Amino acid sequence: MKREVLFPTPIYWHDFPDSKNLNKYLFKHIKAWYKSDIKKGRPTGEFKTNSGFGWHSSTDMNDKKEYQPLIQELFKMAEECNKDYGIQPKLGLGNMWANINPSYSYNKTHTHPNSLWSGAYYIKVPKNSGKLFLEDPRPGPNTIMPRRVEGVPKELWRVIAYEPKEGRCIMFPSWLPHGVDINMNTEKGEKNWRISVSFNFIQTPE
Ligand SMILES: [Fe+2]
Repeated sequence: MKREVLFPTPIYWHDFPDSKNLNKYLFKHIKAWYKSDIKKGRPTGEFKTNSGFGWHSSTDMNDKKEYQPLIQELFKMAEECNKDYGIQPKLGLGNMWANINPSYSYNKTHTHPNSLWSGAYYIKVPKNSGKLFLEDPRPGPNTIMPRRVEGVPKELWRVIAYEPKEGRCIMFPSWLPHGVDINMNTEKGEKNWRISVSFNFIQTPE
């Protein structure tokens, strides 16, 4: 018997170089941005329906020059994704934003419409602060759940959860439903913050 696997869903991850220093730098800037937002009285989770009690910055992070060191790394990786997946057009960074998820915050399942590649880069990940879960996007496998044998390979799973890692970036097709589990870390103050950056890469016009 022969087998072909069609309609694959690629998930890419990459540990950015010198991420310790990069994260220290990003933490400082994102924390200042968060504080100034709070001062202005902007409620957390504003504008975003999928954000459960976390702080979600405005989505113009890609226009701010202090985040260029991260943006450069994101572009390098997204271009690799394009190459691997056979996508030709030059990429643009449609938008980008920072997330601070304190204890008990989460992100509901969602997709990122009108984009090619989406993902997250992790700056601060306390213990048990929530895994990123990805769901099988095809309606077929979600309408029938046959009893399975133990240990089926993960290509056949319906949901998969990734443990976030500081300095790691994960990218996947923007149509892939995903979310973040509840942050169950209850250390004091900012110790319980999980900090990440999310983004959408888009095709540029010919
Ligand atoms: Fe997302």
